[in-house]
Amino acid sequence: RGRIARVTARTSDIEKATGVLRAGGLVALPTETVYGLGANAEDPTAVSRIFQVKGRPPTHPLIVHIGGAEHLGDWVQDVPATARLLAERFWPGPLTLVLRRGQRVPLEATGGLETVAVRVPDHPVALALLSAFDGGVTAPSANRFGSVSPTTADHVRAELGDAVDFVLDGGPCEVGVESTIVDATGEIPSILRPGGVTREDLEAVLGCPLAVPSTSRVRVPGQHPSHYAPRARVVLVEPEKVVAEAELAQKLGHQVGVLLPAAFADATVKAHAVVTLPRSTALYARGLYGFLRELDQRGCDLIVASLPVEEGLGLAIANRLRRAAGPRSTV
Ligand code: TXA
Ligand code: MG
Repeated sequence: RGRIARVTARTSDIEKATGVLRAGGLVALPTETVYGLGANAEDPTAVSRIFQVKGRPPTHPLIVHIGGAEHLGDWVQDVPATARLLAERFWPGPLTLVLRRGQRVPLEATGGLETVAVRVPDHPVALALLSAFDGGVTAPSANRFGSVSPTTADHVRAELGDAVDFVLDGGPCEVGVESTIVDATGEIPSILRPGGVTREDLEAVLGCPLAVPSTSRVRVPGQHPSHYAPRARVVLVEPEKVVAEAELAQKLGHQVGVLLPAAFADATVKAHAVVTLPRSTALYARGLYGFLRELDQRGCDLIVASLPVEEGLGLAIANRLRRAAGPRSTV
């Protein structure tokens, strides 16, 4: 994938952020996937504040971010051989391992579960923070519950404003979709949420096929169908129907935003706003949440899109688009 310039942190910013974490405050931090809303993982009051700020139900478990694979054993009861292998191969990187919860992890962070999700983010600013803090940082994506995850510091400021004590700006996120969550508690791992590490990469390392749960049922706490949703309603159609569907809805009075598949880039679309998607799935994943935010900002009330082929990063993109198009909660 095309790499983007990596922003490193000023020492003074890392010191400030570390102080905020030690005092029980909240720090927004860049990762390679999306921005996180971080708190000291071992401070139950600080962890609870994350849920308040996000408007997230307290039963939705968080991910504990640590500074290196060598610290994994401090946060979980035991590290099975497959988990060790995956950690060594993919960390730092967009892979989260679910394992049995260690004593250090408060139940506030796991939504009451006896398992805990852990990852080492691949971003120089996040790694500098974790190294200076010398502890674990629980961080969900730094957005309000159910909405689109932030991939720039400006997205975080626009969405959370003063509710965050300090925002570390690490530039735009390189991967753009969240980490792949793998249940590594059993013999054969399974993918709970597709993300930045592809199923193909995992299977190549493990040498066996992995189960990917269907998106049609809520199986894991915090994996509701209407997650990752922009304000505008999202409608999914076959790629060759995107243009016609968009033009029809526009004619019917909608302000239509279009995520136009690269194969149809030459079409002129009579709609309110059109984003022509990159051909590369890496660039599509990197841009996805920004595209959805842009269409919201341009005043669209309906977004017409189609699913990419569900291989490689396409699996994570399709998962997020399905959830964006899923039924909205009425509460
Ligand atoms: O890339 C990412 O994973 C980003 C960055 C900030 O690291 N974080 C992120 O966090 O996406 P969040 O809170 O938006 O999503 C974490 C998801 C939860 O919704 C839940 O589904 C799953 O992780 N999770 C956490 N702990 C779990 C556990 N013990 N068992 C099963 N799933 C768990
Ligand atoms: Mg999230």
